[in-house]
Amino acid sequence: MAESIRILMCPPDHYDVDYVINPWMEGNIHKSSSARAVEQWQKLHHILKDLAVVDLVNPQKGWPDMVFTANAGLVLGDNVVLSRFFHEERQGEEPYFKKWFEDNGFTVYELDEDLPFEGAGDALLDREGRWLWAGYGFRSELDSHPYLAKWLDIEVLSLRLIDERFYHLDTCFCPLTEGYLLYYPGAFDSYSNHLIERRVPAEKRIAIEEADAVNFACNAVNVERTVVMNKASDRLKHKLESVGFEIIETPLTEFLKAGGAAKCLTLRITEPVLEYVHANSPVETRTIHMEGHLLDAGIMNKALDLVVENGGSFKVLNFNLGIERQSTSVADVRISAPSYQVLEEISRQLIELGAVTPPQEVCDVETETVTKAGVAPDDFYVSTIYPTEVRVNGQWVRVRQQRMDAAIVVSETDTGITASCKILRDLAVDDRVVVGIEGIRTVRKTESRETQQRSSQEFSFMGAGVSSERRVELVVEQIAWELRQIRDRGGKVVVTAGPVVIHTGGAQHLSSLIRDGYVQGLLGGNAIAVHDIEQALMGTSLGVDMQKGVPVRGGHRHHLKVINTIRRCGSIARAVERGILSKGVMYECVNNNVPFCLAGSIRDDGPLPDTEMDLIKAQAEYARLLEGTDMILMLSTMLHSIGVGNMTPAGVKMVCVDINPAVVTKLSDRGSIESVGIVTDVGLFLSLLVNQLEKLTSPYQIA
Ligand SMILES: NC(=O)c1ccc[n+]([C@@H]2O[C@H](COP(=O)([O-])OP(=O)(O)OC[C@H]3O[C@@H](n4cnc5c(N)ncnc54)[C@H](O)[C@@H]3O)[C@@H](O)[C@H]2O)c1
Repeated sequence: MAESIRILMCPPDHYDVDYVINPWMEGNIHKSSSARAVEQWQKLHHILKDLAVVDLVNPQKGWPDMVFTANAGLVLGDNVVLSRFFHEERQGEEPYFKKWFEDNGFTVYELDEDLPFEGAGDALLDREGRWLWAGYGFRSELDSHPYLAKWLDIEVLSLRLIDERFYHLDTCFCPLTEGYLLYYPGAFDSYSNHLIERRVPAEKRIAIEEADAVNFACNAVNVERTVVMNKASDRLKHKLESVGFEIIETPLTEFLKAGGAAKCLTLRITEPVLEYVHANSPVETRTIHMEGHLLDAGIMNKALDLVVENGGSFKVLNFNLGIERQSTSVADVRISAPSYQVLEEISRQLIELGAVTPPQEVCDVETETVTKAGVAPDDFYVSTIYPTEVRVNGQWVRVRQQRMDAAIVVSETDTGITASCKILRDLAVDDRVVVGIEGIRTVRKTESRETQQRSSQEFSFMGAGVSSERRVELVVEQIAWELRQIRDRGGKVVVTAGPVVIHTGGAQHLSSLIRDGYVQGLLGGNAIAVHDIEQALMGTSLGVDMQKGVPVRGGHRHHLKVINTIRRCGSIARAVERGILSKGVMYECVNNNVPFCLAGSIRDDGPLPDTEMDLIKAQAEYARLLEGTDMILMLSTMLHSIGVGNMTPAGVKMVCVDINPAVVTKLSDRGSIESVGIVTDVGLFLSLLVNQLEKLTSPYQIA
């Protein structure tokens, strides 16, 4: 027996499953046998007494979980950080444990009442004493970790738990003698797994399978080379034995019903302090400020969910709720993350939601200079679709050419400071690129309850798979109205269309939209033009007779013949000039001076002479034609619509029509309230739209 090792236990006199505070307790209320629990506890007590000195704390009636002494607090040397239980059901244990520690000469540190920390259940010392592993995610708060580091003067490594079955660190993680580690990787997020792998060499890591994990194999008591646990598979036993550990199994099934086993039933109260180990916690915090319809537009929920989903934690420092329906709310939130990198990632996402640094802490953007053309500095800020401002020399500057997935370049000249989005390949040597996250803010339009409800109604039918015809009609009415308004005020509408528009009989309708001045630009690929011209010249689309709807003999060659014809002319415009092409979508574009760009792709036949096969040039031309657009109609082309979506800033209305709900969702889901998705046949959509526009211009309608 190692006399220098002391363990604290609590007899199970009042143990029972009285409530449900973890998934193991579900369905087990009052289902444990107290006689069996006593017998199992005594066996464990007996085994441990042979290995160490066991002290006892008096059990208390009404506090059934006191038996799990691991949660009394965390001991290091003569100091103990007392637990602050997350659940009310266990908070009554705190004074009894506090008294025991004080009576036994420990210095007791206590966290604020609203900062949960569940003792050695969530904080495990490396058995060599080099650092402390601390868990968070379910019971203990990440914000408690810097206190552990400070009070116990030790380095704390924060690990995030993500599987609610393993709600405490000691249910899935067990540091062993000589730097070995028994753990279940599935219980941790990827950042934590990387941290574990960086600290513990592969030959010392014993990763267990789920079957062992659910038998609480990690909830083991390790004294020197002995490991005491509820149960282990032969495989695990063999693994542990092969590196020199002896396993003692002792059934603790009655305690498993409450979500605990050997380790939970014990607290090691002799933990040696190493001279050379000192406080260090990589937990980073920063405060963010948010304003707007934080509650009714769901921004607050989104922001807080985002923090937690990315492995961070938060504390709302103040929240001023807007009282009137129109008034906005203001909040300051402190965000904590287990490392600087995680905090940066969270902050970047919060900036997209419109969060800013509180006014008193705001500073200028940081920039780094491009040293190789077309290559940004490592930590460059990746732009979004939202209007963005950067702070340069104490002044907020609006970013120009806003688009997503670009870098922001700042330049200062005699005429002033400018900032603009530049895609990577356009970056030139000496460009000053914004890096990090300081001094950047996005200007989000405050989305009120009304706007949210309207957009969710619009989206709800696109998600339903098949939209009712009446609902499509309603949205078409709205779009027709807006198209009319844009045309009448001299605005700009760009259409991006795929060949399906032609196959579904939409060519005549799209042609009439162009003819009537509703379209100011057309973007697509080789195919839309090929099939449109095929229909105009030969009456077929992909070899199918558009009148009769049946394939024409030899029709599969038609599209190649028309490509050849246009190639002979030199361009689509020449074919129009020569009277060869006299109807259809492309004819109307040429005839009405509507610019178009056909971007090439690997599956293109021909291609047509107008098709731009240099994709960099095609992207630049797309961007040029999209400048100043008010509305984009995306008609059944995933490829070109995604390309267009990436170049378009928030604020431009996008109407996406596709038969496949997944495509519509993908295209419309930019978090932009201006997007509308319509799941329907594109031919039908275009015919309804043209119909509606005719109604709007008919004299009866005006009267
Ligand atoms: N002959 C050719 O040169 C040729 C032929 C075909 C495609 N292409 C090229 O391949 C690339 C990709 O083509 P794409 O844009 O057609 O393909 P895509 O897969 O990007 O998009 C087609 C979209 O149309 C949707 N759709 C299908 N039927 C529909 C209907 N009845 N109503 C509404 N939506 C419907 C689909 O769900 C899909 O999202 C383009 O660049 C195109 O020019 C070339």
